[in-house]
Amino acid sequence: MNRIAWTSDSCALLTEVTREFDDTRPFAGLAIGTGIHLEPKTAALLLTLQRGGAEVVATGNLNTTQPATVEFLRAQGITVIGRQTADPAEHDAYLREVLAARPQLVLDNGGDLFARYLEDPYPTLVGGTEETTSGRARLAPLRDRLARPILVINDSPIKQFAENRHAVGQSVLESFLRITNRSTNGRRVTVFGYGACGQGVAINFRNAHARVSVVEPDPVLRLEALLDGFAVPDRDDALAEADIVVTVTGAAHVVRATDLPRLRDGAVLMNAGHLPHEIDGDAIRADPNVTGVDDGAEGIDTVHLTDGRRVHLLTGGHMVNLAGPRPLGNSIESMDLGFALQARCLEAVALGRVDANACVVPVPRDIDESVAAAFVRLANAA
Ligand SMILES: NC(=O)c1ccc[n+]([C@@H]2O[C@H](COP(=O)([O-])OP(=O)(O)OC[C@H]3O[C@@H](n4cnc5c(N)ncnc54)[C@H](O)[C@@H]3O)[C@@H](O)[C@H]2O)c1
Repeated sequence: MNRIAWTSDSCALLTEVTREFDDTRPFAGLAIGTGIHLEPKTAALLLTLQRGGAEVVATGNLNTTQPATVEFLRAQGITVIGRQTADPAEHDAYLREVLAARPQLVLDNGGDLFARYLEDPYPTLVGGTEETTSGRARLAPLRDRLARPILVINDSPIKQFAENRHAVGQSVLESFLRITNRSTNGRRVTVFGYGACGQGVAINFRNAHARVSVVEPDPVLRLEALLDGFAVPDRDDALAEADIVVTVTGAAHVVRATDLPRLRDGAVLMNAGHLPHEIDGDAIRADPNVTGVDDGAEGIDTVHLTDGRRVHLLTGGHMVNLAGPRPLGNSIESMDLGFALQARCLEAVALGRVDANACVVPVPRDIDESVAAAFVRLANAA
């Protein structure tokens, strides 16, 4: 409760939007269905939507739901379906239950709800938003069938630099320190992926005095990493050198069981990408060179190899900054910006300011500009 209050108090932008929604009620008579990480910061967003007149029907994401947040939201009259689960079948059932409420608006994360909507479409769906890169990739090929305004928050330049570059990097570093309680000084860190998130992860570990290399298949981004001062070895060499490996790509099986022979004894593996399959934990556990996996400290799985080496996997391969012990996620300020974009985009869809041509497209420029201007105004006034 204290954490939720602290978070809401720290969301200056969202507080301003909420006050406005009290008067304008853009979602009056509408239900908003969502499947986002349920933690103290998203609670602030859901309460803002509720204050805008929406009936909110929410479930969490795989493995990241925080029970105290669920309890709080239910007490505020928000319908929360299910509970924390790492079981994909159980999570799937919760998502379908959200859609069974036939929400007119959907705030999606990873394309989970819109993809399932297409299996059982209903005409009253107006449209909504998608939060992530992974969701955009999943939904873009489905545009013809979705045929509704769906604004992709992640494609806003604000989201890219405020959250993905600055905040994900900070919180992944913070998660490594909190979970392992080990220092980063002089450690060799390999970051897979040099998109917005990977850039922030690489910069933050470098700022924490680690020696950082980047593995990135896109030659242009690889060049950028080199010019930014990072080593850009081949992936196998990078893995063989690393004390710490971070995946943040959006791709599957970036680190595989076949990589086990080249990993250093004591290497720490962690994933910050949306889905847990970036590090193929299932294949690693089943590999014949693995004699067993045991719980190290909380949030650390230790994989024992036949030759005596040990490799540590943080938070079971789930997003390291959102799963595991006492996860805090990205900074409140970065989320405040992202949530203001969410609230303004859902408002634009609800009020018919964007039409079906805006299906899986970036945030409209006027919304970016108004959110950026409001943040700067509030920061200067503070
Ligand atoms: N943990 C968080 O809080 C958080 C927040 C935002 C986004 N994400 C997730 O992080 C992931 C990355 O997001 P982004 O915005 O940086 O995406 P992005 O598309 O900008 O960058 C991903 C990069 O990974 C590279 N890549 C793909 N396959 C690779 C491989 N096998 N090895 C090395 N690099 C590879 C791509 O070329 C690309 O440059 C996504 O899954 C996104 O959903 C996580």
